[in-house]
Amino acid sequence: MGSSLQLIYPWIRSPLVVCSPMLRISQPALAVAVSHAGGLGFVAGGYDADELTLNMENAVDLLKGLNPPVPSQTGVLPIGIGFVLWGCDLERSVHVIQQFVPAAVWLFAASSNDQYALWASRIRDATQRRTQIWVQVAGVKEGLEVVRVAQPDVLVAQGNDAGGHGMKRSASVISLVPELRDSLDAQGFNHTAVLAAGGIVDGRGAAAALVLGADGVVMGTRFLASREAVVVKGYQQELLRAEDGGVCTVRSKLFDRVKETNGWPEGYNGRAFVNRTFLDAKNGMPDKQNISLHKQEVSQGDTDGGLKARTIRYAGTGVGLIHDVVPAAEIVARVTAEAENSLGETINNLKAGN
Ligand SMILES: Cc1cc2nc3c(=O)[nH]c(=O)nc-3n(C[C@H](O)[C@H](O)[C@H](O)COP(=O)(O)O)c2cc1C
Repeated sequence: MGSSLQLIYPWIRSPLVVCSPMLRISQPALAVAVSHAGGLGFVAGGYDADELTLNMENAVDLLKGLNPPVPSQTGVLPIGIGFVLWGCDLERSVHVIQQFVPAAVWLFAASSNDQYALWASRIRDATQRRTQIWVQVAGVKEGLEVVRVAQPDVLVAQGNDAGGHGMKRSASVISLVPELRDSLDAQGFNHTAVLAAGGIVDGRGAAAALVLGADGVVMGTRFLASREAVVVKGYQQELLRAEDGGVCTVRSKLFDRVKETNGWPEGYNGRAFVNRTFLDAKNGMPDKQNISLHKQEVSQGDTDGGLKARTIRYAGTGVGLIHDVVPAAEIVARVTAEAENSLGETINNLKAGN
């Protein structure tokens, strides 16, 4: 499947490294840098189509200024746009997609699987199928249903380690990816590509995902620590300081309640750093008080984070493996090279009986 992705996205290196859309963080500079480095970058659509139009104009300008250019198909932008469906207006979003024709549109958090089908068909009509449809799912049954109703080109298999929003009930990539791949193949959907997302921050994780049957990897948390991510300094410092990612982050619905991001469909929560907000709630602080204290801290601007801080910051379990803030292109280059080396080394070690 990997080679056919290269036919569709002619600039990509193998294995495919994707930077996920992250609301207000994955902006044009990050998306363009990732694609220019041989990955695929997504601009996070957000909930405001006018702002997205401005962002896409900015992305077009950045792409025009690149030397060498990213070799995409004529009339197709070599970046994607991600939409969180419960918060986005279909008509206005399709209008932007038609105007810019991104290589891929990433759909997430629909209120029902029929909503994915509707979006997929509208986008395909609006772009004469030049824009590929990606859907992020967290379960095998969910993935199969989405494929039946919406026929996406790519399923992003989001495991439980993922930073940001995801399904409360989900497996990690290690079992999700192979079970999803097997089920798709068994049902005749072997043409649907599967990408692994959640907890992958380096070439070892990417190599493992490939062995599990993924056609490439998606990373969010790793790219938070890139120069191009729109992330405050304290957040990046916290990413660098973090250790023991499964312990210093936690999945909880509390984060939405406190941030008052209440539109998420049933079944979703989010993974963020454990901090004072979380600990106070655990010790019985009522949401009303927690919301007010959170607002107070957020209004004061950036913080250093940590257990005393209240500002909610999303991150995946791979965070303990992040040790530097570097250009996004370097992250793509490192992960692709390390993945190949890890696979080679593992085979050599096996053959040598180590
Ligand atoms: C800070 C942050 C913001 C995110 N925002 C979005 C978003 O706006 N839309 C979306 O589809 N996924 C979002 N995600 C989830 C990613 O799509 C992806 O599943 C996740 O980053 C993969 O796991 P990783 O963070 O361990 O790499 C976000 C993730 C993070 C860490």
